[in-house]
Amino acid sequence: MSIANVRTQLPGPRSRELFERWAQAEAQCTGYQARVCWDRGQGVVVTDVDGNTFLDWTSGVLVTNVGHSHPHLVAAVQAAAARLMNNYECLNEPRVQAAEKLVQILPAHLDRCFFLSTGSEAIEACIRIMKRKTGKFEIVSFHGGFHGRTYAALTAGGLSGPKKGYGPTLPGAIRVPFPYCYRCPFRAKPETCDLLCLEYLDDAVRANSTGSLAGVMVEAYQGASGFIFAPEGWFPRLQEWIRSHGLLFSYDEVQSGFGRTGKMFAMEWENLTPDLVALGKGIGSGMPASAVAARSDVIGALGPGEMSSTMGGNPVACAAVVAVVEIFEREKLERNALRTGAIIRRGLERIQEKSPWVGDVRGCGLVMGVELVKDKKTKEPAPDLTRKLIDVAAQNGLLIGSVGVFGNVIRVAPPLVISEDEAAESLDLFEKSLAMLQA
Ligand SMILES: Cc1ncc(COP(=O)(O)O)c(C=O)c1O
Repeated sequence: MSIANVRTQLPGPRSRELFERWAQAEAQCTGYQARVCWDRGQGVVVTDVDGNTFLDWTSGVLVTNVGHSHPHLVAAVQAAAARLMNNYECLNEPRVQAAEKLVQILPAHLDRCFFLSTGSEAIEACIRIMKRKTGKFEIVSFHGGFHGRTYAALTAGGLSGPKKGYGPTLPGAIRVPFPYCYRCPFRAKPETCDLLCLEYLDDAVRANSTGSLAGVMVEAYQGASGFIFAPEGWFPRLQEWIRSHGLLFSYDEVQSGFGRTGKMFAMEWENLTPDLVALGKGIGSGMPASAVAARSDVIGALGPGEMSSTMGGNPVACAAVVAVVEIFEREKLERNALRTGAIIRRGLERIQEKSPWVGDVRGCGLVMGVELVKDKKTKEPAPDLTRKLIDVAAQNGLLIGSVGVFGNVIRVAPPLVISEDEAAESLDLFEKSLAMLQA
C-alpha cells in the first residue's frame, strides 16, 4: 500500500483558507512552494491540514535530518522547555553537554564551539573571527555561494538574489568562480581541466586584493545555487592555496553537516582541516540552533564579551543538539544516507536517460540536484517547468523544492531516516510527475 495519499485537489479547502488568511497578515516574500499547508510530520511523511499525506524530499530546507518530529528529539525538547527556556549567558547544563558532544564528534583539531541560533549568524561569526584573528578585512568567496541573508553573509555570497537592490555590500569581498562543471565558465571539462578555476583564483586575488586578506569562506557544496559539488581534489588544492597564502579557512557546513552527504561532516570526505566551520540546520533538526566550530587558537582571538547572542546556547536548543547527536550515535543515519542515497541516485540516473529535460543529476549521500533544461544540448535552463513539476509532484504526493542560479534544479534531500520502500515510492512519484509534464 502506498504511503502518499492526496485526496483533494491542492490546495485543499482548509489549506486554501489558511493561505488566504496568511496573505492578509504576513508579507508574501518567501520563495515558490507547493500550495500545501503542513500540519504534522513523522519521519519522511508529512500530513497537511486537509489530511493529505506526502513523502518529503525537502526536510524543510535540509533541516530535519533525523526525520520530522523524531520521538527522542521531541521528548528532549519538551523536557527542557518545561524546565528552563532561556538564561542568556548564564550557564545551563544542556549547553555544557551540547558543547562536549559537538566537540567529541568533530574532527580533533576543531576543539571549541560556540552556539548561536541561525546559519547566517554562524557565518557572520566566522567572518568576524577571521577578521579579528588576522587584523585584516578581505574575504575570498565564490560565485554562486549562499551563506545567508545578513550583511557579511550576503557579501560573501555570490548570488544576485540576496544582494540586488540593497546598495553596496561590505568592503573587502573578492569573489571567484566555483567549479560548476555542468556549466563551466571556462568551457572546460573536469576530466581534462586540471582545475583551471583554481589558477584563475590566484590571478583574481592578485589583481583585486589590497594586501589585507583575512581568509576564505566556502560552502562544502553549493546549496542554493543548485547542489553543485566540486570535483574530487578541488578542495584539497584550495586548502593548500589558503595555507600557502597564510589565510584562515572557513567552511560552511550549515547544509552539509549532520550526515547529509553520507559522512557526519562533509569535510571528512577529503580530510579537510578548516580553521572555522559554520553549522546550522541539521544540528537542531527543526529546533533553531547553530554553532561555530573552531580551532581554539583561532576562536581564542575573541576576548570576553566579544561574542554573544540572545537565543544562542539556550537550554532548549542545546537539549535538541544533544538529542540529535544521540540519534546519530544510535541510528547511524549518515550510513543510511549513503545506502538510500545510492538507490535514489541510480533511479534518478535512469530517469535522466529517458527524460528530455533532466540535464544533470549530481550529489552525494542524501543531497542531490536534478537540473532541468529545455534542451539537453543547449542546456537552456527550464525554471517554468521546474515550478510546474513542484505542483504536479505535490498533487501526486511528493514534496519537492527548487534551487539553482537559474531556479531550475530540483532538490532531492529527504530526511536521513528514509527507508528503501519510501525511497522507491518517492522515485516512482517523481518519475510519474515528470511524465505527466511530458504528456
Ligand atoms: C550553506 C548555507 N549557509 C548558510 C545559510 C543560512 O542559514 P539560515 O537561513 O539559518 O540563516 C544557509 C541557508 O539556507 C545555507 O544553505
